[in-house]
Amino acid sequence: MGKKILVGYATRYGSTAGTASFIGEILEKQGNQVDIRLIMDVTDPDSYDVIILGSPLYMGKWLVEARDFVHRYRHSLLERPLYVFSCGYSLREQTDVSLKSGESALDAVRMYVNPADAAFFPGMVSMESMKPEDRAIATIGGLKSGDFRNWDAVRAWAEKISDLIG
Ligand SMILES: Cc1cc2nc3c(=O)[nH]c(=O)nc-3n(C[C@H](O)[C@H](O)[C@H](O)COP(=O)(O)O)c2cc1C
Repeated sequence: MGKKILVGYATRYGSTAGTASFIGEILEKQGNQVDIRLIMDVTDPDSYDVIILGSPLYMGKWLVEARDFVHRYRHSLLERPLYVFSCGYSLREQTDVSLKSGESALDAVRMYVNPADAAFFPGMVSMESMKPEDRAIATIGGLKSGDFRNWDAVRAWAEKISDLIG
């Protein structure tokens, strides 16, 4: 029988919503009942069998609303299978250094909960549509515009979750 699954995500410029939707659609096709929701709108994590949470990395961290969600709902998140994914520019190349920076961002998550699996995906950058303060930081950081999302990697992870939750 299918599971009731939450794919909760945080985003500043929308690209992580696309990744979350893609994961959700795959799990839905496998017969699960899936809600893909902005993490800030979720107040009922107890109503799900399985929870998947994702955030982009900003300055080496998950967005604050995603970290707050983990802290606020840590008891619910400890009581059911939890999967997490992070999206970032540095994750275009899955090197030891980039994966280590992704892992450190999860310190704030692992402090409270115990994800069954964690994925690290390349994200998307659009220098033109950023707020000036973000563009300034992104310019200093050497970021270049592009949609680096790797749909094959995202699909593979969603299928892995599908297998794991049976
Ligand atoms: C100000 C700023 C800081 C960022 N910091 C990081 C970072 O620390 N590590 C990283 O891998 N990517 C970083 N990125 C890239 C974003 O994580 C990436 O563009 C992500 O896909 C954006 O997701 P969103 O469209 O859902 O907001 C940064 C981008 C900006 C604009």
